[in-house]
Amino acid sequence: MTRPRILSGMRPTGPLHLGHLTGALDNWRVLQDTYDCFFVVVDWHALTTDYANPGDVKQNILEVTIDWLAAGLDPKRSTLFVQSLVPEHAELHLLLSMVTPLSWLERVPSYKEQQQQIQEKDLSTYGFLGYPLLQSADITIYKAAAVPVGEDQAPHIELTREVVRRFNNLYGNVFPEPKTLLTETPRIPGTDGRKMSKSYGNAVYLKDPPEVVREKIRPMVTDPARKRRTDPGTPEICPVFDLHKAFSPPDSQAWAAEGCRTAGIGCLDCKGRLIDHLLHRLEEIHERRPRFASRPDDVWDILKEGSKRARETARATMEEVRSAMKIRYPIR
Ligand code: TRP
Ligand code: SF4
Repeated sequence: MTRPRILSGMRPTGPLHLGHLTGALDNWRVLQDTYDCFFVVVDWHALTTDYANPGDVKQNILEVTIDWLAAGLDPKRSTLFVQSLVPEHAELHLLLSMVTPLSWLERVPSYKEQQQQIQEKDLSTYGFLGYPLLQSADITIYKAAAVPVGEDQAPHIELTREVVRRFNNLYGNVFPEPKTLLTETPRIPGTDGRKMSKSYGNAVYLKDPPEVVREKIRPMVTDPARKRRTDPGTPEICPVFDLHKAFSPPDSQAWAAEGCRTAGIGCLDCKGRLIDHLLHRLEEIHERRPRFASRPDDVWDILKEGSKRARETARATMEEVRSAMKIRYPIR
């Protein structure tokens, strides 16, 4: 009985926050029960935007993996690995680039958007244009049946399917078309009300100890119309309420909404209840984390083992690809 395979990845951006938990990790952890899961830390993808400052990549691989393990990804059941330790990804990326029209890459929405948004980096590079195609190689080299991602990544999986169809038409059926397993992602605002993000400095990290979580949530931005305790508020426009929706059970959500609209509770009461639920949610993560955080060598070993396993599959696929493309030689 072989379970269908899925693959997903994250860039090594540093410690993970609440947005990563609801947007990916909670889902990945559950998927481990039904799928043969491959989870990759994509260090080359990090270089497509951070090529000028690669200094943090190594430490960030470790940070991300420790958070994965703390969040319940299980290296016994799933393959956790590093992209650059399976160099076949680069070979497949190159070969896929032969059949991928430039226009397909230029019209991926994240390409122009990111170039405009990220003014401080020069993203007019060959590597950045190829970002989604490298992702296609990550997926197809394991013949993944499905890819769990948020909405923002859906166009990259769509591109992957197009490239697969083109490849299979030209060279015969080598790759399955991967499905998008869309993760419903609730809005997770940071403490300033904007989207939670490391670069905004508004994130609550999975590794933040309880005191730090409290200190971050207490001064969090609320409905600006609620200046005084007696002013009623509108939970629908309050970022604290967004967090309630993501982390509190229905009865607490109802309590907060009702208390806010009637001025029956104050914002500090509301945040206090949120903090309780958040800390409860983070408890098991905090319990698992030190085991890994205190032994970085063990974490690197897990990645080494995972990368070795991943590489065996990747090598087998590349034999098929070379064969299909008529570049498999007897002297290899
Ligand atoms: N581009 C993805 C992101 O920014 C990361 C990623 C790289 C990925 N390769 C992947 C996700 C393959 C899913 C499958 O989130
Ligand atoms: Fe936001 Fe809660 Fe204050 Fe209402 S009571 S404004 S939902 S923090």
